[in-house]
This record gives sequence, C-alpha cells and structure tokens, in this order.
Amino acid sequence: MLATGLVGRTVLITGSAQGLGAALVRAFHAEGARVVALDVDDARNRALAEELRGAGGESVLPLHIDLRDLEAVADACRAAAARGPVDVLVNNAARPSAGPLWEITPEEWDEVFAVNLRAAFFLTRHIAAGMRERGYGRIVNIASIAGQTPRPTGAAYGSAKAGLIALTRVFAAELAASGVTVNAVAPAMIDTPMVRSVDPGTLAELTARVPLGRIATPQEVARVVLLLASEENFATGATYDVNGGALMR
Ligand SMILES: NC(=O)c1ccc[n+]([C@@H]2O[C@H](COP(=O)([O-])OP(=O)(O)OC[C@H]3O[C@@H](n4cnc5c(N)ncnc54)[C@H](O)[C@@H]3O)[C@@H](O)[C@H]2O)c1
Repeated sequence: MLATGLVGRTVLITGSAQGLGAALVRAFHAEGARVVALDVDDARNRALAEELRGAGGESVLPLHIDLRDLEAVADACRAAAARGPVDVLVNNAARPSAGPLWEITPEEWDEVFAVNLRAAFFLTRHIAAGMRERGYGRIVNIASIAGQTPRPTGAAYGSAKAGLIALTRVFAAELAASGVTVNAVAPAMIDTPMVRSVDPGTLAELTARVPLGRIATPQEVARVVLLLASEENFATGATYDVNGGALMR
C-alpha cells in the first residue's frame, strides 16, 4: 500500500466518466478521498458516482461540464470549493485527434487546444490560487508520449500535449515556494475507449513498438497519479513516462 495521505482530501478530476478518468475516480475513492468528477458525459459520470455510492466511503460529486466553456469551468471551481478546499487537481480530460496533418481544419485545431490545453490552464489557475493561499496542493496533468516524440498523425493533439508539459513546468516553478507540486504523466497507449477508436492496424503497429509488449491498463497509470498526488510526493515540474519503454530518455 502507498501511504498517500489522501483520506478526506478533496480531489478534482476532469474527464472522469470513462477510461483513465474513471479509473482515477475509483483509485482516489478507494484511498478515502472526496472526489469531484467533471465530465461532459453526464449520464456516464453520474452512473459512476452512483455505483461508488453503493461501495461506501466518501461520496463522489459528479458535475456536468463542457471544458470548452470557460465560464462553466469557473462555475465548476466554485461548486467544488463549496465541498471543501481542493487539495488535488488532475487535468485528465482530452479530445483525440489523429488525422494526417494535411487534413486538420482550423476548427479542429481550436477545439483540441480548447479541451486539451486551454481548459487545463484556466482550471489550474482557479484551483491553484486557493492551494497557494493554503500552502498545500498536488496537481497532476495527463500528457502523452505524443507530446514528447513525433507521430505521423496527431499534430494538434501532440502540440497540445507538448504545451501541457510546458505548462506543468511553468506552474511548478511558480508554485514551488507555496508547497504546491505540479507534475505530468505521459502514457503511451492505455486500454481505454479513446484507444479503441484507433484502427486495428495502427494499434498493432504502435503496440509492437512497446518493449513491455502490451499497452497499459488504466489502473497502472492511475497508480502513478496516486503517487504524485500523495502527501509524501517530493517531485515537481517532472514528466513521468508510463509507456512500457516506448520512449526511453
Ligand atoms: N488512451 C490512450 O492511449 C492515451 C495515451 C496517452 C495519453 N492519454 C491521455 O489520457 C487521458 C485520458 O484519456 P482516455 O483514453 O481515458 O480518454 P477517453 O476518450 O476514454 O475519455 C476522455 C474523457 O474526457 C471527457 N471529455 C472530452 N471532452 C470533454 C469536454 N469538452 N468537457 C468535459 N469532458 C470532456 C470525455 O467525455 C471522456 O469521459 C487524456 O488526457 C489522454 O490524452 C490517453
């Protein structure tokens, strides 16, 4: 068992309804944290909260939000704060985008950046202000190997993820003196609905490039997030590669 010190802490997770986000909700709930779960997929998000209510422990508060809407982001921060000061923020939500770079439209580019980077910036700024005042906080950004090394597809997605890694360092430097740590996790492929939308040929080719020989489970990635969200974490400004060896640096 990790000594996470998460019992009774309020944890805000974006993109919580499925995939890695849902695994994060389950992992933090199991650690005794009070989870605020933000997703645009209200039905799935509520169903998960309901399921965990049956499991006992702290309740999960599902909030319906479209992260492209910055007023909604501010409202969600207020609703979360009403539950108690937010100690942990996990910026997990993202929108996939994998077309050839020649085919990306300005609309798609803006949309990918709005969800995958702009929302993370404004949400973090809202939440980090309170963390700074209280002198404690843990922020974890879910980046991607796509932000570290080029792929023939995914120019918008990869650029936004690279931006998220840069943003992680900026916030880490800005907040270090306040007892707030900010880190990124960069997975390669994870077995989630996002990856199931990748065509089988590409998936097989990408899996073949993973030295550990398979893609990650959401639980394996969530485990690293728990570590970075724990009281005893001393890392900040770091990017943790959870990629089965697909990128060694
Ligand atoms: N699955 C992978 O192979 C993989 C690899 C590397 C990194 N990642 C990263 O891991 C994180 C989780 O990915 P996943 O595979 O679980 O994705 P997913 O598509 O399965 O889930 C993403 C969640 O984000 C929510 N979301 C999307 N747009 C939103 C919006 N505008 N407002 C609010 N919520 C929104 C979706 O409703 C969904 O619940 C993402 O940041 C992704 O980039 C995933």
